[in-house]
Amino acid sequence: MSSAPPKTPLPETARLSFAPEEPGSVPLHVVAADDWPDWIAARPEADRRWAEALGFHASLGEVLTLPDGAGGLAAAVVGHGDARARARTRFGIARAVTALPAGVYHLADDLPADARDEAALGWLLAQYRYDRYRKPADAAPCARLRAPAGADAHRLETIANAEALTRDLINTPANDMGPDELEAAFMAVAERHGARAEAIRGADLITANLPLIHTVGGASARAPRLLDMRWGDTGPRLTLVGKGVCFDTGGLNLKPGSSMGLMKKDMGGAATVLGLAQAIMELGWKVRLRVLVPAVENAVSGASYRPSDILTSRKGLTVEINNTDAEGRLVLADALALADEEAPDAMICMATLTGAARVALGADIMPFFTDDDTLATALVAQGARVRDPLWRMPFHEPYEALIEPGIADLDNAPARGLGGAVTAALFLRRFVTEAPLFAHFDIYGWQGSDAPARPKGGQGSGARALIEALPGRLGL
Ligand code: BES
Ligand code: MG
Ligand code: ZN
Repeated sequence: MSSAPPKTPLPETARLSFAPEEPGSVPLHVVAADDWPDWIAARPEADRRWAEALGFHASLGEVLTLPDGAGGLAAAVVGHGDARARARTRFGIARAVTALPAGVYHLADDLPADARDEAALGWLLAQYRYDRYRKPADAAPCARLRAPAGADAHRLETIANAEALTRDLINTPANDMGPDELEAAFMAVAERHGARAEAIRGADLITANLPLIHTVGGASARAPRLLDMRWGDTGPRLTLVGKGVCFDTGGLNLKPGSSMGLMKKDMGGAATVLGLAQAIMELGWKVRLRVLVPAVENAVSGASYRPSDILTSRKGLTVEINNTDAEGRLVLADALALADEEAPDAMICMATLTGAARVALGADIMPFFTDDDTLATALVAQGARVRDPLWRMPFHEPYEALIEPGIADLDNAPARGLGGAVTAALFLRRFVTEAPLFAHFDIYGWQGSDAPARPKGGQGSGARALIEALPGRLGL
């Protein structure tokens, strides 16, 4: 393949981890609001009066420290609230990470497994900081948690660090996360896990028959490319495809400033599949994994593709460009067609594909599309259980007509825009004809304001639900 580009690696961030096993950690009690009166009644009178003086009620994430009578810390309590509060706020216990004094804590009582894992994972995720450009004035919070008894600490740490990688990639602005840097990050993950990886760049995309990736990325001074990683040599073939638009100006159909502001996150699909791939490799799944990322910048220049251009895709289907801002489905079309040629057992696509998906479900819930009822049911159930909420949307066949412009096989941007997430999904599905299982996630990749364990900024979604749901469906 082509010669290596200059590498600007993503700076290594501190690994999210549980505190090591050491004597002297502070017992941390997780107490639901309903249980609180009985719980505190069973404590020494001084504790009861102290809690009353502070007005503690065990609301979700509320923190109470209990003194030991000699000026030390005997224990701490974090409120688990009531069922309604827990339904409204995921990872609420993670508020304790910044509210508690520095030190090492351990969960003092047994929690049901799901609540325990949510508390432990939330604790790790709350320790994530994006500090590449500005070191915080105060030291990072250091209320740390020991791995809870009975929990799979390695699995939880792996999942948390996959999410941290996704966040780092999305948070890094486009000047430092262009196609070159996304490639460097991709190669670094491959190298760390002994995966084989290659990149097809610039004009080589034409000889490799990846014309849509070449055309969409052609306006940028930073060469477009396709990143391709393979890992594992036994088990079902699982292929992940992620949209890697490092910045989406909209192209000649330029986005207004208000819509362009967040478009560094338009490689959120690539960031999420790369995090997911890292987790799969670290968890040692018995699969033949492949990861494909079309990495481009949707820029404006004399080399821009235009509305009304008709492009021929790798698969041979012709596409009329009605809007250069519908670029994601174009680069994905070639990547999906390439992936589909070896008929993998399962193909998962993740992309910040449409504004329509956000209008439909908001920032929190990720719509996904699949024809596989078994996977769909598992994804929704597991997503709810691990608090990675997803909702199935339909590949509504009657809308197929909307993506057929007459002058070409496909239209990249149907005129009225109705059902925009569905028509985009139908467009992608046209490029998957051999793989028996296909699912596409129209993700957001962003958290708009600080929430427990979910700081404002880049955000993964769907990956944790997939980690729970895929093994059963693939028969692992
Ligand atoms: N990257 C955007 C979609 C997007 C916008 C995701 C805002 C999340 C938040 C995508 O490339 C795009 O611009 N899509 C257009 C498609 C339309 C022109 C058919 C959209 O959704 O408006
Ligand atoms: Mg766009
Ligand atoms: Zn885009």
